[in-house]
Amino acid sequence: MPVPKAELHLHIEGTLEPELAFALAARNGVDLPYADTGALREAYRFQDLQSFLNLYYELMAVLRTERDFEDLADAYLARAAAQGVRHAEIFFDPQAHTARGVAMGTVVEGLWRALERWGSPRSSEAESGGEETHGVSTRLIMCFLRDESAESALATLDAAKPHLHRITGVGLDSAEVGHPPAKFREVYEAAAALGLRRVAHAGEEGPPEYVTEALDVLGVERVDHGLRCVEDPALVARLVRDRIPLTLCPLSNVRLRAVDTLADHPLPEMLDAGLLCTVNSDDPAYFGGYAGDTFDAVRDTLGLGPERLRELARNSFLAAFLDDDEERRSR
Ligand code: ADE
Ligand code: ZN
Repeated sequence: MPVPKAELHLHIEGTLEPELAFALAARNGVDLPYADTGALREAYRFQDLQSFLNLYYELMAVLRTERDFEDLADAYLARAAAQGVRHAEIFFDPQAHTARGVAMGTVVEGLWRALERWGSPRSSEAESGGEETHGVSTRLIMCFLRDESAESALATLDAAKPHLHRITGVGLDSAEVGHPPAKFREVYEAAAALGLRRVAHAGEEGPPEYVTEALDVLGVERVDHGLRCVEDPALVARLVRDRIPLTLCPLSNVRLRAVDTLADHPLPEMLDAGLLCTVNSDDPAYFGGYAGDTFDAVRDTLGLGPERLRELARNSFLAAFLDDDEERRSR
């Protein structure tokens, strides 16, 4: 039985497996510039974040209808549930879809159909092939693309207003370096005024100062990645003191070359320092593993014992936005 865990750093578009990409391409009459799934997988050799993002945005062309987004989320939740995920906080990138003429409502309502179905336990033979499958509670976090303008982020928040009863929080993702958190001060203030929770990617490729800025200027409650905080002892001390969760993604860090190999990942030292670390899969279709695979990899390669693995699982629930149901329903 995989350990029960929450997944807090997961881009739904990053769960698009090659097989589903080709199926959706056929359904929607979209031409993919790859001969087959094997050729597409061959393209999964990344030098850095940008080289990954180029492919990640290109493949989104196959996502067009509510049913596409529903199928995408359904496939992710089936895999996550099988690997012990009981709660998932799911990022989505509306600007990557609205820019292609796909409406905000198509994305949110499509995802929601799958999320709603997985929100309760499922044990029927027909649905689960005879196996007991638990439900997965979920939250949606809408991310702004930080390499787009602050005005575009504000327009995106505005477009989301009819759907805010489905959205728990806002995040910040895409190409980090050169796009510091402070660029998005205004939209984060507006999101806070709407009662949305706030997170942001910081310190993935960007410097530790971006982590500090995400805390001070954007008021984030949780830092996505935060890996490079280890370069600044005063920042580490602050994160420990204030119990700020970090949503680390070790397999992503290897594939995007933030670390040389998984054995070099500083997760054990970060836990020893008292940081509230969680481990997550980021874009599992591209980085070689879902939540359970990630737990297994850090256990096997970083030598984390049962105590540390229990701590990671406990942290994932501690850091989750599990206390907001009443507040959301009243919005
Ligand atoms: N979008 C999808 N995955 C991302 C990552 N790891 N960093 C920044 N933006 C992303
Ligand atoms: Zn991410």
